[in-house]
Amino acid sequence: MKIIKNQDTLKEIIDSYKAENKTIGFVPTMGALHRGHLSLIERSTINNDVTLASIFVNPTQFNRREDLEHYPRDIEKDAEMLTSACCDLLFTPSIEDIYSKTELEQPFEFNFQGLDKVMEGVFRPNHFNGVVQIVSKLFTLVQPDKAYFGEKDFQQLAIIRLMTKTFQFSTEIVGCPIIREENGLARSSRNALLSENERKIASHIYAVLKESITFAPVTNIEELKSCTVAAIEQKPELKVEYFEIVDGNSLQPVARMEDSDYIVGCITVYCGKIRLIDNIRYK
Ligand code: PAF
Repeated sequence: MKIIKNQDTLKEIIDSYKAENKTIGFVPTMGALHRGHLSLIERSTINNDVTLASIFVNPTQFNRREDLEHYPRDIEKDAEMLTSACCDLLFTPSIEDIYSKTELEQPFEFNFQGLDKVMEGVFRPNHFNGVVQIVSKLFTLVQPDKAYFGEKDFQQLAIIRLMTKTFQFSTEIVGCPIIREENGLARSSRNALLSENERKIASHIYAVLKESITFAPVTNIEELKSCTVAAIEQKPELKVEYFEIVDGNSLQPVARMEDSDYIVGCITVYCGKIRLIDNIRYK
């Protein structure tokens, strides 16, 4: 696997692939890779001539400085994992290579058409502006034919689809299923910050979400929400930040299960100090 550290080298390499009509699959990441990321790489290697991953801990999408400072980083281990997953190229730019001083100082603003007014958008102000800022920059550089994102970050995936349409990128956005640990916990870079005991406790989140599927047809939305939250919080270490049952396309909360053909429950839970997200499809 070739490691590229700056935009100029990346541009040269991308131009040469484009000249040869090679298709490029792109997996943007912030590193601290796990099996979830590798599933995106594997999917890309099957469907493209070249697979490029990026590792860039994007400062503009963190709304808490301490989160950015404590974000897990292990570039050598990440590179080994990508090599074993047959990734062709890894782009690891510096902050200075990506952003000008002005870009770092002035908030980027995107019109989310309401997709930011719920869930993560409420609890992490400006987070999605930072995500759109970096992903649009990376798309401009990489010009991918296909780009791969996990469905765990459900709202992010919807926003990336909107961004792609708004900025008229010709990239196909491929959403990939959540990969879970054996105990059901959704794989996330943040799991590295959980203690062994917290990992066990956090597996309760998915156990309850899975069980809630059984109750969904025989209860109303309000009850489904309150019972799910109460069941999760039976573990004193778990604190639910939000649990919303939304239309899978508009991300707007639904009042009744009959209101849409595509309904997803999206949750964020603190396990101790670590913020974990997950979701479950009801319909
Ligand atoms: O999902 C992530 O890891 C990040 O939000 C992304 C898409 C790589 C942008 O920094």
